[in-house]
Amino acid sequence: MKVVATQRSQLLGSRIAGMLGVGMAEARFSRFPDGEHSLQRGTLDGETVVVGSVVDADSLVQLLLLLDACRESDVSLVVPYLGYARQDRAFREGEPVSARAIAGALGRGVSRVVTVHVHKETVLPHFGAPARNVTLEAAIAGHIENLGLTRPVILAPDHGALTFARAVASLGGWEAEHLEKTRISGTEVRMEARNLDARGRDVVMVDDIISTGGTLAAAAGMLRAAGARGVHAIGVHGIFVGGALDLLRNAGLREIACSDTIESGSSRFSAAAAIASALSR
Ligand code: R5P
Repeated sequence: MKVVATQRSQLLGSRIAGMLGVGMAEARFSRFPDGEHSLQRGTLDGETVVVGSVVDADSLVQLLLLLDACRESDVSLVVPYLGYARQDRAFREGEPVSARAIAGALGRGVSRVVTVHVHKETVLPHFGAPARNVTLEAAIAGHIENLGLTRPVILAPDHGALTFARAVASLGGWEAEHLEKTRISGTEVRMEARNLDARGRDVVMVDDIISTGGTLAAAAGMLRAAGARGVHAIGVHGIFVGGALDLLRNAGLREIACSDTIESGSSRFSAAAAIASALSR
């Protein structure tokens, strides 16, 4: 078995290979003069783990090309971040189910699929191959332990993320709560804490995706105004659109940490162990 990764998932790919005790196959990406992607892959074994996050159109094309170049091997596909998963239904007449379009294209010809904290597991059947979603509560709880906080409260920015917050909290013996989130526009949200007295507490917000940062920035502002001692943000997938990091820092967050499903300077914990464990089953 070998692991091979797209450009945006090199670090995570090598960590997964390390955990599995296998080597990496080379994948050299370049572009044709007209801008189209090209790829030269190295030697494979009979089994290949292809790792690629769908972060943007380029990473999607690279992943499709890599899968095609590995078609003679038995492929396990790892999609650490599945972009387009939030459009999991046609919200208005005439819209596509983007998650179906992307998963369907990626899953063709692969033996199995592993995703990480996919926005909703209902998209998994769209791959058309056996698909399993892994979650990172253990890695996140380990990261929070290392922050050395006293009696932190683990906070979900909306009711939908409460199960996730509770799972993280239970690993550390912490309390979990959630905010009420009302989305006003694509970039603006209003947050309310109905059941939380944040005064003097360290609050660690956990969410699956940090995109514009609007959700967590609004929550941080509200929590600081409510007297929280320190506010921290942990996301599984750090997309950080445009000035998201500045927005979050200006909102007074003490720490912004994400996993390596999308590699960036804020990647502070890894999805590799959870993925390797799913692949070993
Ligand atoms: C929403 O359903 C997700 O769980 C995240 O809360 C959302 O995608 C975060 O987006 P943003 O950072 O743009 O507020």
